[in-house]
Amino acid sequence: MRVLHPRGSLCWQVGNHVQNGEIFPLDLVLYPIFKKHELRLRNRIVWHFEHGLHGSRRLSGRYETVLWFTKGDEYTFNLDAIRVPSKYPGKKYYKGPKAGRLSCNPLGKNPGDVWILPNVKFNHVEKTLHPCQFPVELIERLVLALTDPGDTLLDPYAGAGSALLAALMHGRRAIGCDVVPEYVKITLDRIEALRAGTLRTRPRERSIYDPKLPRGGHARG
Ligand SMILES: C[S@@+](CC[C@H](N)C(=O)[O-])C[C@H]1O[C@@H](n2cnc3c(N)ncnc32)[C@H](O)[C@@H]1O
Repeated sequence: MRVLHPRGSLCWQVGNHVQNGEIFPLDLVLYPIFKKHELRLRNRIVWHFEHGLHGSRRLSGRYETVLWFTKGDEYTFNLDAIRVPSKYPGKKYYKGPKAGRLSCNPLGKNPGDVWILPNVKFNHVEKTLHPCQFPVELIERLVLALTDPGDTLLDPYAGAGSALLAALMHGRRAIGCDVVPEYVKITLDRIEALRAGTLRTRPRERSIYDPKLPRGGHARG
């Protein structure tokens, strides 16, 4: 709260803590702490992915959440920067005063609060030695929507540096730290690769693999 800009956002990404087969949704557990600091929840984004451990005594866990808080009621939110293709892009009003005009935003639709993005498993192009890194594209959407070029992103639990990379890729500044020196080294190496143009990331525009569709016919999540 001390270093957060008045128009700034705080995003807290967590899954479930699992103990003896019982799950503890960490966003629910932590929410009162954020409220104590008078942060305002704007969205509870559900990040859905298809891969993970297979449950035998409960349903397999296939989502985590991002709690998006703002410090105040005036906050940066660039919706146009993260619009996704509309389902029916050419659809028009067929009656009334707007008849014949496009009924949807030509820039695309609001991506909603359920985001379908592959998680970083062993065959993902971004995989490093870090055991639980985010896909860069998850943070890219947050960076584009919640910050302007030149703004600064702080990730105090930087891991393999995915959030820092998302910020740097889009002209933002980035500060990060981690208690494990090996992870800091991975982050620095990835930043160096970004500068050298050799960093491999999954492009934001790439469609999600769907085994039911013919090759090349995948829908964007
Ligand atoms: C879930 S990982 C973050 C992964 C990161 N988002 C990425 O995409 O690579 C959480 C990280 O927090 C670090 N961590 C845990 N406690 C910490 C602390 N007190 N201060 C700084 N980093 C910490 C861990 O070493 C771990 O790398």
